[in-house]
Amino acid sequence: MTTRVIKNIAELTTNDASLGVGVMGRLHDAAMVIDDEHVLWTGSNSDAPPADEMIDAQHGAVIPGFVDSHTHLVFAGERSEEFEARMNGTPYDGGGIARTVESTRVASSDELRRTTKKRLDELRIGGVTTVEIKSGYALNLDGESRLLDIANEFSDEVTFLGAHVVPDEYVKDREGYVDLVRGPMLEACAPKSKWADVFCDRGAFDVDEARAILLAARAAGLQLRLHGNQLGATGGVALAVELHAASVDHCTYLSDDDIDLLHDSRTVATLLPGADFSTRADYSSARRLLDRSAVVALATDCNPGTSYVTSMGFVLAIAVRDMRMTFDEALWSATRGGAIALRRDDVGHLSVGARADVAILDAPRAAHLAYRPGTSIVRRTISGGQQWMPAFAAAFGVMGDG
Ligand code: NIG
Ligand code: FE
Repeated sequence: MTTRVIKNIAELTTNDASLGVGVMGRLHDAAMVIDDEHVLWTGSNSDAPPADEMIDAQHGAVIPGFVDSHTHLVFAGERSEEFEARMNGTPYDGGGIARTVESTRVASSDELRRTTKKRLDELRIGGVTTVEIKSGYALNLDGESRLLDIANEFSDEVTFLGAHVVPDEYVKDREGYVDLVRGPMLEACAPKSKWADVFCDRGAFDVDEARAILLAARAAGLQLRLHGNQLGATGGVALAVELHAASVDHCTYLSDDDIDLLHDSRTVATLLPGADFSTRADYSSARRLLDRSAVVALATDCNPGTSYVTSMGFVLAIAVRDMRMTFDEALWSATRGGAIALRRDDVGHLSVGARADVAILDAPRAAHLAYRPGTSIVRRTISGGQQWMPAFAAAFGVMGDG
């Protein structure tokens, strides 16, 4: 196994308070050593031990790779016209999901594989090293099962979302669709999934339907997460807490009771600013959650309807500028917060023994991720011994290996 020393790090964020300053565990003028799998050492640049290879960070910042705990990467087609209509005042109601279902059902597996990989590469180039991927754009047994097979080619964090909406052929038989999802579809999909999710909201599934599906999923061995409170205060947060779900995602509408419930629970509030941006919704109340010590994660929600976003930098910029999270709160939420939302303790931080998942920035401080929105400042992403670089960085030999 190859060992690599990353030298000349102006600012190293470890997210491990025991390793550096503050909760972010920051070190300055630092270095770190990794192998293909794990972090082996972090410390001062002058104390860096030798390794098989040297990567020169050229006085850039290094952060733990982003943990994007909520995506819908496997889909065909696009819905830019729906986005344009929304910008001109048409509200989002989930109706467009049927269009993506139509194009996804007829797409070949090769096409879905190719476009999923492309989106994943975009995420990786922006510093993402762990990504959750949901099904949810086939809404029939064979189709959902196929989407999960494709998702499994790219991630271990795979989520069965057969209950995204009721498909057109079942509009007159909602109960029949709920029975299909929690019966035969679940039976086929559970072995291919770690998680189950339900879109519990207006126009999708109500709390009782969502509860029935999630309880069946748990009995089939899946862990739970939930789309909740995106379009209204529809009870998703309370259901997620009741079922001890790992995460409730969106949280655009939050009552004080919801926040109290989250404060008293292990359920993470995963905020998806890209979706609020793209649906012209109000942003989630990150401050109310953080001030009440709820655990917050930030994710892209990459999907063709509400958030065709593959940049965690963009998510951080909104979180800081418009949701009034401090930069460190936002960075923590997009790394360690995402890991907690996936119930993982091996990613989202750079303690010795953690996964060797890092992003090296072309900026002296990580805060440039929000300070320079729209600019790609990630120069190299490293995960599992693999590396990703934007084409221009590779072409100009930025940060060449020593
Ligand atoms: O997380 N809200 C539910 N699901 C997705 C959007 C799906 C779509 O519109 O295609 C979301 O926002
Ligand atoms: Fe989503």
